[in-house]
Amino acid sequence: MIDRYLDRGTMYAIFDDDLRAVCVVTDEGEGVLELKNLAVSPAHQKKGYGRAMLEFLQKEYRGKFHTLQLGTGDSPLTVPFYEKCGFIRSHVVKNFFTDNYDHPIIECGILLQDMVYFKKEL
Ligand SMILES: CC(C)(COP(=O)(O)OP(=O)(O)OC[C@H]1O[C@@H](n2cnc3c(N)ncnc32)[C@H](O)[C@@H]1OP(=O)(O)O)[C@@H](O)C(=O)NCCC(=O)NCCS
Repeated sequence: MIDRYLDRGTMYAIFDDDLRAVCVVTDEGEGVLELKNLAVSPAHQKKGYGRAMLEFLQKEYRGKFHTLQLGTGDSPLTVPFYEKCGFIRSHVVKNFFTDNYDHPIIECGILLQDMVYFKKEL
């Protein structure tokens, strides 16, 4: 899945003593920038690095794209984070996880099935 977009993506990392967070963004055309694979190192989650990365992207790409979007599982580990950072639900890709992965992905006891897209205007 990552190989499908890595070559056309731009990677960012936050270092604060050591590596704290990474993400990749891709140009999806028609003014839409997509955030892929935001991940904060487990020891440093819930300390503001994820929000800092989103704020950096919004500042960096404002005026160059009109929307920042991202897809995630309908999971309590990610959805409240994006909502707190001001993203709103956009659309759903039905059965994305069950169709594209050869094994079930379970987060907080929930089987991830659909990809839920969130967006924010830049
Ligand atoms: C999801 C993730 C990127 C969030 O980054 P983070 O640095 O831990 O989040 P932040 O500290 O910047 O949180 C920003 C706000 O969201 C809230 N938040 C973060 N995760 C939350 C959760 N699971 N439930 C409720 N609120 C949450 C924080 O409390 C904070 O709220 P506040 O500003 O009111 O204090 C990070 O936890 C992570 O890498 N998780 C594992 C990988 C992953 O699931 N990536 C997402 C792929 S789509």
